[in-house]
Amino acid sequence: MSEEIIKSIERLKAEKNAVIMVHNYQSPEVQDLGDYVGDSLGLAQIATETDADVIVSCGVYFMAETASMLCQDKTILIPDANAGCDMANMITPFQLEALKKEHPDAVVVTYVNSTAQIKAMSDICCTSANAVQVVNSIPREREVIFIPDRNLGRYVADKLGRDNIIFYDQGFCPVHDRMLLQYAVRARHEYPTAKMCLHPEGRLDVLKTADMVGSTTGILNYCKESAAKEFIIGTEIGILHRLRQENPGKKFYPLLPIADCPSMKLSSPEKIMLCLENMEVEVRVDPETAAKGVKAIDRMLEVSS
Ligand code: 13P
Ligand code: SF4
Repeated sequence: MSEEIIKSIERLKAEKNAVIMVHNYQSPEVQDLGDYVGDSLGLAQIATETDADVIVSCGVYFMAETASMLCQDKTILIPDANAGCDMANMITPFQLEALKKEHPDAVVVTYVNSTAQIKAMSDICCTSANAVQVVNSIPREREVIFIPDRNLGRYVADKLGRDNIIFYDQGFCPVHDRMLLQYAVRARHEYPTAKMCLHPEGRLDVLKTADMVGSTTGILNYCKESAAKEFIIGTEIGILHRLRQENPGKKFYPLLPIADCPSMKLSSPEKIMLCLENMEVEVRVDPETAAKGVKAIDRMLEVSS
């Protein structure tokens, strides 16, 4: 990364009172520019706490939308507006409306990997870090519609032993859904002493073979605190940068080396510099949608605080 770009970004940040928020899957050079690097829950919490006027959201589109819903008075910029989350785009308001009609008394729990419109139609949001906690906060006798991730929904249902959760079969993360049981079996065989850490967007049969299941920050914390020296990592490979940076004496093996989310790799130092210089692309959720969506996000933040 050129020194010139780093200096320009620093100057622009000071001029505009901006912060750079980066998801754990972003490319190494973008992570190294972050004022905050974290998981979806951490990024949402930091957005509510920062006194910056401008947030450069380096992640995927729904993360910038979440920041806009939570901080309507701030300018939210995304370095590349094409960075969509495939899973978020797998459910439309029309499809959610149909589910709600079919189950009128159910509580709608929506994974943050969803559009602003979908959040605005939901009762409560969750992230991978708090999905179990969020669903557990709903009385057991109430039916739950869990969208859009069928895998996370099944993991939560299994963890809580709940059989009244309606899953959305068309929703999944293409990166994590590709991690099949056979890869987990092979990795265990190849690295018999390694701890297996998996993201809950994975399939339930694979998750059942894990030593730990957690959000990206959960995985980072586990590996830091563990006395083990080797880890099999079942999530997007962008996380390996921080894992290796923070744990120089430990070894990390990706469960699937091609586990790459193309949208997460669309940000770059150059695009960050340009977006601060030109103050675009701005992501602004309209006030009506934001007001509705923020209720569902705030409920989640209350449950996870
Ligand atoms: P985390 O919230 O665990 O960082 O996950 C976000 C995501 O997009 C996983 O694919
Ligand atoms: Fe969405 Fe999957 Fe990419 Fe995460 S890894 S942003 S869930 S497509």
